[in-house]
Amino acid sequence: MCGIISYIGKSNATQVLLNGLKRLEYRGYDSAGIAVNDGPHNSFVILKSVGRVETLAEIANQKKMQGSVGIGHTRWATHGEICEVNAHPHCSSDGKIILVHNGVIENYVPLKNFLLKEGFSFKSDTDSEVLCNLIAYHYGRLHALMPSKRFLESVRTSLLEVQGTYGIVALCKDCPQEMIGSKKSSPLVLGIHEDELFLASDVGAFAGHTKDAVFLDDNEIIHIQGKNFSIQDFSNVPISPNVETIDWDVNFTHLGHYSHYMQKEIFEQPAALDNTIRGRFSQDDSTAHLGGLRMSAHELRQVDRLLLLGCGTAYNACLVAENLIERYARIPVEVECASEFRYRNAPLEKNTLVFVVSQSGETIDTLAALRESQRKGFRTLAITNVVGSTIARESDGGIYQRSGPEIGVASTKAFTGQVCTLAMLALYLGRMRGMSFSEGCNFVSALKSLSTLASQVLDACDTPIKSLAEAYAHYEHFLFLGRQILYPIALEGALKLKELSYIHAEAYPAAELKHGPIALVDEKYPSLFLATDPLLLPKTIGNMMEVKARKGKVIAIGIEGVEIPSKAYDDIIYLPQMCEAILPIITVLPLQLFAYYVALERHCDVDKPRNLAKSVTVE
Ligand code: AGP
Repeated sequence: MCGIISYIGKSNATQVLLNGLKRLEYRGYDSAGIAVNDGPHNSFVILKSVGRVETLAEIANQKKMQGSVGIGHTRWATHGEICEVNAHPHCSSDGKIILVHNGVIENYVPLKNFLLKEGFSFKSDTDSEVLCNLIAYHYGRLHALMPSKRFLESVRTSLLEVQGTYGIVALCKDCPQEMIGSKKSSPLVLGIHEDELFLASDVGAFAGHTKDAVFLDDNEIIHIQGKNFSIQDFSNVPISPNVETIDWDVNFTHLGHYSHYMQKEIFEQPAALDNTIRGRFSQDDSTAHLGGLRMSAHELRQVDRLLLLGCGTAYNACLVAENLIERYARIPVEVECASEFRYRNAPLEKNTLVFVVSQSGETIDTLAALRESQRKGFRTLAITNVVGSTIARESDGGIYQRSGPEIGVASTKAFTGQVCTLAMLALYLGRMRGMSFSEGCNFVSALKSLSTLASQVLDACDTPIKSLAEAYAHYEHFLFLGRQILYPIALEGALKLKELSYIHAEAYPAAELKHGPIALVDEKYPSLFLATDPLLLPKTIGNMMEVKARKGKVIAIGIEGVEIPSKAYDDIIYLPQMCEAILPIITVLPLQLFAYYVALERHCDVDKPRNLAKSVTVE
């Protein structure tokens, strides 16, 4: 979603901002803009454009701006259509304040009415322009103060009056070497490098410049004056910065020999899965080491129930984990969409342990669910991919999935990383309860074989799935069917196809077919069956025959050596034999490839599907 990068230093701010905006592109956006101190008397020039950052770069490069202070933004429309006027940065109608904002100001209507009466005018339909004018209003009111103090005080007072979420960076015409940032439920991080400072929504925006960062907490205000900065809370109490060194790969945005980030990330899965498990097993005890949970074995044995919360793909990973944890650790598990949990006021049993799962660690619904569960006194742990993300920092402990940066909007390696991490959790909890040493050994070997198996399957499936995609890309509907631990994989396969190719896809437990969805089946409505679960295979074959009898095309994913009669399918992809615990991770791989190739056939933008954002930071 929206991204922020700001810079104050000695280099050309325009180039730093444009590079930062390019690095933020993966979050999803529809317009972009920058403000740089390059006008007469050091005033700020604002440039905006709809569409890609390249378009903004072309406009900016013609201007040859030299300023070394500026702010930049990529916008993902919430309030107001996609157009230049609604793009950020916004400038207050008196020309004093310039602002970029991520998040939503919920009480913008009464504030706007008030500001209109005070003589402010509005060009855009955005809630962000309201905050910009509100800061300008207070700035005008506080004229007795010196500009620097006046700027800080006007931001502080305004933020006390707004409801909603924000990550902001503001500039002031009277203090051109200063900027002020603050956040509430939307990330903001300071990057520090010698005489240069960066304020961004995402450390990736200043990757390549510095690895030293300070993550701001909610209700903190940072005031940058030249090369110095200070942080304080809303009561003006100073806060000492905690400078962290970020461990990142500056090359994460390089595609290498791949055509798309999604393709790269699909094929990175063997290595990513290896990373997830590396150093986390104890061979002697045939269990996992998950010290980040910060809970003793005694405390974990007291847990009567787990509640797993996530959104989208992370929710699907939780559904797989429900099955794994109940089966291997014999602990009852509930799974809920984080967005629903936060408002449901669900009665939870005393010894419930809550896990939130989020690749980005910034999803607002998941963050709100985490806070709601903590508010009610439950220990809340997190599984995240992004180190230092808000969810990682606010949780009471957790596990990093270590899948590496995921740029493609559709989750692939993050999903398999989440399932793999949750599988380690099932092993860890299982070995504390009824799971035997030998079962533990088998589980550990299965997880250790993941990387090799994933690599084999990706290599073997790539060409056949591409051909399959060519044959099926013209259909407008699809059913995905799987049972038990594979039902969430059917959900994930359908989600991938919807997100990437805009084909209508639905997923059901295969046995549910007769209870409704079979009414949809005809020659225009193909079905993809996950027929890799040996136990229920005869029943699944029966369901496939029912579809065939109604002229529906059937694609099957089967297991080598386990026969499926040829009259039950039109096309089949075989996977190697494997232990059941890792079946979901391996079975999803051909579905990711299928969605990818179908989207390419339909000329869709696979890395930036329409309307979607990588990190969903608004409700
Ligand atoms: C996955 O392909 C999606 N784009 C989306 O469902 C995503 O998984 C969801 O928004 C949750 O994101 P998170 O893991 O960063 O919290």
